[in-house]
Order: sequence, then structure tokens, then C-alpha cells
Amino acid sequence: MKTIVSGMRPTGRLHLGHLHGALRNWIRLQADSGRCFFFIADWHVLTTKPEDTGAIGANSREMVIDWLAAGLDPERVIIFRQSAIKEHAELHLLLSMITPTPWLVRNPTVKEQARDLGLIQEEADEAQVMTLNYGLLGYPVLQSADVLIYKANGVPVGIDQAPHIELTREIARRFNNYYGEVFPEPQTLITEVPKIPGLDGRKMSKSFNNAVMLRDSAKEIDQKLSRMMTDPRRVRRNDAGDPNDCPAFNLHRIYCTPEEIDYVSKGCRSAGIGCLDCKKVMIKHVIADLEPIHQRRVELETKPQIVTDVLEHGNQQARAVAAETMSQVRQAVGLGG
Ligand code: TRP
Ligand code: SF4
Repeated sequence: MKTIVSGMRPTGRLHLGHLHGALRNWIRLQADSGRCFFFIADWHVLTTKPEDTGAIGANSREMVIDWLAAGLDPERVIIFRQSAIKEHAELHLLLSMITPTPWLVRNPTVKEQARDLGLIQEEADEAQVMTLNYGLLGYPVLQSADVLIYKANGVPVGIDQAPHIELTREIARRFNNYYGEVFPEPQTLITEVPKIPGLDGRKMSKSFNNAVMLRDSAKEIDQKLSRMMTDPRRVRRNDAGDPNDCPAFNLHRIYCTPEEIDYVSKGCRSAGIGCLDCKKVMIKHVIADLEPIHQRRVELETKPQIVTDVLEHGNQQARAVAAETMSQVRQAVGLGG
């Protein structure tokens, strides 16, 4: 029996990028026989935005509503909040004792995040990386604790997170070497993320204001996708285009039947159809896909107690497992009673 662990930072309401990039994969995994732990990585928000924490609570709830509405089933998986399980922090402390700083300083994903936040320059050298906050530099160690405390065998993540899971394995190996075999080395289960550009062709992101949110109404979805960027060559109706150069067509790839793909591709290349007609073929699928999510969301919004109960129950289950691992860890390290 395999144990799966993954977390998401609470950024609030989710968009199509989250749905196809992670959530649908989690929902697929819950159907397998193993045990799954999916959590709100709320401490991780403080690693990049320690001065801006006011929305963490509301964003966490919004995110969990979208998880449940999309079909994550609290009867089958353990859904919980990282900060509710203090054992993660204790394990993080102990793992930090055996993690050489160079393992952190060379982490490409941390560097990229720091660059995106404007904390270091494009071509930052090690000295610059060393100016980052301790918590940001060390967040992959916290992530390792998140994973190891449940003795995960697999961690489903996007490719950007792979260096963190590699670090997790290195830390687990060292721990087991020093103190005896406690942790399995988890596998990285790379999620094949289909390309989902935002409405303007850039990466889909709430902060770019170019996202189709899971909660958008059918009308909003239709309006947004109708004005989504297409192949710029199709200036006039009879200019031919190429679906491969069309941001909107990435959604066709996900949502349309092979016959529809064939029809619109030919129509695009011959200028036989206009972009709006082409997008209509895809838009109706997106709306139909999100419709059941909307319906479940309505119930979750009118009964806030559901999310409260799910988290309360999930926290209890996660805590029991984490507490058991920590008593083994303390014993192994020599801190047992
Ligand atoms: N760092 C991850 C992200 O930014 C979130 C995360 C925190 C995570 N802890 C984790 C993912 C443990 C997988 C396993 O997306
Ligand atoms: Fe994109 Fe379709 Fe327009 Fe071609 S016809 S550019 S695939 S929207």
C-alpha cells in the first residue's frame, strides 16, 4: 500500500491551471488503493510573503471549497492544514540539523522564486542567495518534513518541485544513516501538466488577471474565452492561421474530441472558420466540465460548516500519523523518554 503526500499553497480561488496542473491528478490518485494526504501549505506562504498574511485563513477555505467541489473526497483522502500539525515544525527542526547549507543554496526553484519576487537579481551568485531569509532558503526542508512525517512513497508535483523531493530523499538517506532506518525515500510523481496559457497568452495566473476561475459562471467563461488571444496572423477573417501558434488552441487540445480538433485545425489553416466559431467548439466543453463543480460549490458555500468539519476531521487523522512518526523519530535521535 502506497502513501501519497502533496500540498498546495493557499492562494485562494483556483483556476483552470490548478485544475489541470494538480487537482485532477490528485482526484485520480484518490481512486487508487493507497492512502493520500493532501494539505494546505499555509506555513509556506510565510516563506515568500511574511509581511502579508491577512488573507491566509480566507484563502485556505476558498481553496478547500474548490478541492471538494472539483471532487476531492474527504471520505477517501486526508485533507488538512499544515499549521494545525505542530509535528511538522518539530521534524523540520530536526531535519535542519542534518541539512548542509550548500544543499539549499544551489536549489534552482528557490532561486527562481526569489528572482520572481525581486529579492535577488537575474544572475544571482551564491553570496546574493545567502541574503535571503532563513525561512525562504530553508522551505524545501520544511517541505521534506511535510513529506517524511507521513512516510510518503510518492509525491505528485509539477516539475518545478522536483529539486525539493530530491532534497527530501537526500535528507531521508542521511537521517537513516545517522539514526537508523525510519523514513522511506519518496518517489517524485511528476505531474504531466498540459500547457494552459492565460487569456493574454502569458502563464495563467490570478495576479496577471488572465485566468478562468473554477467559480466563474457560464457567462463569464464564455466572455473570457471568447476574447482569449489567438494566432496573431488571423487579423482578418480570411487570414489563415496555425493552431500551434494559438494560445486558445491549448484548451482545444484538452477539451475537444479528435473530430473537433481535426475540424477546427483544418478550418484554421484554410481560414474556413473564424476564431470565434472555432473557440465556441471548445467553450461549450469547458462550461460543461465546470458545471458540476459549480453545483457542488453552491452547497459548500451555503454550508460553511462542511469545510470546517472536513478540516477538523482531516487534522485529527493527520495528527495521529504525524505523532506516531515523531515518537519513532525522537526515539531514533535519542530524544525519547
Ligand atoms: N512547495 C509547494 C508549492 O509551492 C507546496 C508544498 C509544500 C508541497 N509542502 C509540500 C508539495 C509537500 C508537495 C509536498 O507548490
Ligand atoms: Fe486559434 Fe481556432 Fe483562431 Fe486558429 S481558428 S487561431 S485555432 S482560435
